[in-house]
Amino acid sequence: MADYDQIYDLVLKLVKEGGALIKETISRPKNVEVKSCDVDLVTETDKQVEKLLMDGISSKFPDHRFIGEETTASGVKVELTDSPTWIIDPVDGTMNFVHGFPHTCISIALVDKKIPQIGMVYNPVMEQLFTARKGKGAFLNGKPIHVSDVKEMKKAILMFEMGTSRDPAKMKIVMENLAILAPLIHGTRALGSAALNMCMVALGGADCNFEYGIHAWDIAAGDIIVREAGGVCIDPSGGPFDVLSRRVLCASTQELADEVTKVLVQYYPERD
Ligand code: IPD
Repeated sequence: MADYDQIYDLVLKLVKEGGALIKETISRPKNVEVKSCDVDLVTETDKQVEKLLMDGISSKFPDHRFIGEETTASGVKVELTDSPTWIIDPVDGTMNFVHGFPHTCISIALVDKKIPQIGMVYNPVMEQLFTARKGKGAFLNGKPIHVSDVKEMKKAILMFEMGTSRDPAKMKIVMENLAILAPLIHGTRALGSAALNMCMVALGGADCNFEYGIHAWDIAAGDIIVREAGGVCIDPSGGPFDVLSRRVLCASTQELADEVTKVLVQYYPERD
């Protein structure tokens, strides 16, 4: 395994280049294609940014593997081995990107021997670069960030999304959870990007985020960023986080996570 400093610097450069492409194209007309359903979208920019990242990393580290949103959509199987693997969402919040709603980002994480080592979430429109490395803390634009100290639901802002599926069974559970949680908390928020929602918990702006049906590329970077910011990232049932499970709950404190997991109605999508 090459040294992580060298890898980090290279990938940061590529992420900035990809970000420039997103910033340049967000206000332009786009060629939008539909993927799994009418609210699951992809644009030329998603594909270009994923290619830029993968080609750039492969040219320097040919043994590294990838799990990328758009290559998976084109039929490549998701496989997480012990090899260094980059988990990439080239444009998280594609719906936002399509509409010009400025919360959209690149989400990229390096997992080596199944241990997360690097996470970067970059929103070039709002100029927010969230970064984390294992054991070295989490940062926003180079400044250390920390989760809030909220331990009780009644003082918490919770983030969750409808997601990019309108499957009636899943929608029913999203609505049930909204009805259960709304009277118990300070408020709900949703930025339209799973990665940015998780970064809001890392920043201490929100206190908890959960979602069912997201994919590895939406949450791999957020996982290490939240944990390096002092928070917890687990399965919404209370068990350990599994990046391929399509389920995530992160929170500022274990106490808050425990309280939320106790009231949530669970949903188990098919794994990545
Ligand atoms: C989606 C966004 C959205 C979340 C969905 C994701 P995409 O990712 O993160 O906020 O609710 O579950 O699929 O499709 O924009 O990369």
